[in-house]
Amino acid sequence: MKLARRALLAAALTLPAVGALAAPLVMGFSQVGAESEWRTANTASIKAAAKAAGITLKFADAQQKQENQVKALRSFIAQKVDVIAFSPVVESGWDTVLKEAQKARIPVILTDRAVKVSDPSLYATFIGSDFVEEGRKAARWLLERAARTPNAALNIVELQGTVGSAPAIDRKKGFEEVIQANPRLQIIRSQSGEFTRAKGKEVMESFLKQRDKKIDVLYAHNDDMAIGAIQAIEEAGLKPGVDIAIISIDGVRGAFEAMKAGKLNVTVECNPLLGPQLMALARDVVAKKPVARRVTVEEGVFPAEVAARELPKRKY
Ligand code: AHR
Repeated sequence: MKLARRALLAAALTLPAVGALAAPLVMGFSQVGAESEWRTANTASIKAAAKAAGITLKFADAQQKQENQVKALRSFIAQKVDVIAFSPVVESGWDTVLKEAQKARIPVILTDRAVKVSDPSLYATFIGSDFVEEGRKAARWLLERAARTPNAALNIVELQGTVGSAPAIDRKKGFEEVIQANPRLQIIRSQSGEFTRAKGKEVMESFLKQRDKKIDVLYAHNDDMAIGAIQAIEEAGLKPGVDIAIISIDGVRGAFEAMKAGKLNVTVECNPLLGPQLMALARDVVAKKPVARRVTVEEGVFPAEVAARELPKRKY
């Protein structure tokens, strides 16, 4: 009897005290919005990965407004979450709120989009695509295509993403950097379509109404704007993908369907499935393990010729 009691006592001493049992990690996540197919896939990936990792996710949708993101970040700080992650709507204007998070000793992870801040220690790491490279890939495809018609000038119209956002700034920069190599390629109009189908269509309609120059190429900073523009082109009595070559970015299922139908010429992949890597990073950051400052994602380029073969394999 005495022996049994001793054994029970020994077992009890090896158990952690009630308060010391590990509580689930809590992440506050501020999402840009629900502006595109890409974003929907990104949100689904983050929610599923948090669940699979046993991380409690406090999710806030900013509806494409920086002020909503700042409010969400402040609320996460007030709730004393373990880690904050966010995909910033725009690049600048984050110093103050990130300093507040730092003061509260809550680490911050950037996902998808980068920020411009005065002090790099204001965030722990950034996981996302290389948007400049995506712009370069889009332009390299065009350079190759332009080589087939060596003497023709090609007029390009550009549908930019959200003004001030990292993907809009970087995709423009990368594209322009590469097309400079060929003076026959000129961007004749460029305007924001805010990464949405509706705005992409509206801006393309206005480009098509200005009849001073023929449009040969559309470069859209995402697939949704390209899909909206395809509608505008068809309504104007032209053949998208034939009368106007169309290049876009993301590689969502809708783009593959448009390529299969011969209406889109190429999509440059931007992978939204960042959830699992984000959750792993969050655990390491909270445990104060060293993490890379910049985590990039492997991505490809898909021209229309491979669309039918690739479509069944697409995960988003
Ligand atoms: O930040 C990634 C971009 O945001 C995607 O390319 C676009 O579709 C989304 O809205």
